Amino acid sequence: MSFRQNHLLGIETLAPDEIVTLLDLADRYAELERGVDKHGDALKGLTQINMFFEASTRTQASFELAGKRLGADVMNMAMAASSLKKGETLIDTALTLNAMHPDLLVVRHPHSGAVNLLAEKVNCAVLNAGDGKHEHPTQALLDALTIRRAKGRLHRLNIAICGDIAHSRVARSNILLLGKMENRIRLIGPPTLMPAGVSEWGVEMYDDMQAGLEGCDVVMMLRLQKERMDGAFIPSEREYYHRFGLDAEKLSAAKDDAIVMHPGPMNRGVEIDGTIADDINRSVIQEQVEMGVAVRMAAMDLLAQNLRARRAERGAQI
Ligand code: NCD
Repeated sequence: MSFRQNHLLGIETLAPDEIVTLLDLADRYAELERGVDKHGDALKGLTQINMFFEASTRTQASFELAGKRLGADVMNMAMAASSLKKGETLIDTALTLNAMHPDLLVVRHPHSGAVNLLAEKVNCAVLNAGDGKHEHPTQALLDALTIRRAKGRLHRLNIAICGDIAHSRVARSNILLLGKMENRIRLIGPPTLMPAGVSEWGVEMYDDMQAGLEGCDVVMMLRLQKERMDGAFIPSEREYYHRFGLDAEKLSAAKDDAIVMHPGPMNRGVEIDGTIADDINRSVIQEQVEMGVAVRMAAMDLLAQNLRARRAERGAQI
């Protein structure tokens, strides 16, 4: 099988053929989901534990639904009320959970690298649902599937990623994925919201929306991640909207059939105008949510296949 991972920790370690394998399977799950019977049995008998150490609405719901649709026993740990508050370390929490024999562990954590660390300590498949400013692989994969379905391909597209790039794990994972698939990537935002070292990423940078959006096929907007800012990065939200908020006028610089994306949650009137977000001829924001469930079904299915193969091999050796 051309998916060789034991965990899904980031896009960085995925090869292009693995990305295509996952998206092809997700496409099939997207069709299943549009039918009356939405169930598959790829995860039957397996236990999935969701550990979200950071607030989440759509990602957690999406992972939960994906697991349930494929027949897993799904448990959501209420991390806010957990032993962590009593001083337990992340590793101790993980080892406790590991003793309950989960097969799939879905983790979101505010610290970059925390999910990778955890994956070393447990003997099940770990999926990163977002770690600090580092990676959010399933978001990039669902974005890729949405783009591929809307544009008919996932290569040689002009893609603009706009706004708070510096604090965004969504941007990082997308830049990695879309770069691997040979697209032309432009980052648009104020210099204060560009990450350090970005000039080595093989992307173009703009601090003017009209210039950056010129001729783009895809316009991806990002939320201002205020919870990750420890100082003033913009003069004011009003000023930011004026210069970088996506409205009809700025969007007119992109191609006529350019699609508009946003990972959510959206701040209407800060990074995007509400009417653009709701325009069904331009915005694919709802499709992104729909593809999110399909991509997570595919990711957990592929990881479960590898997990079963590893266990069978170990069993055969004993
Ligand atoms: C993103 C996240 O949590 O990184 N949201 C999401 O998963 N849909 C983006 C954000 O919080 O702005």
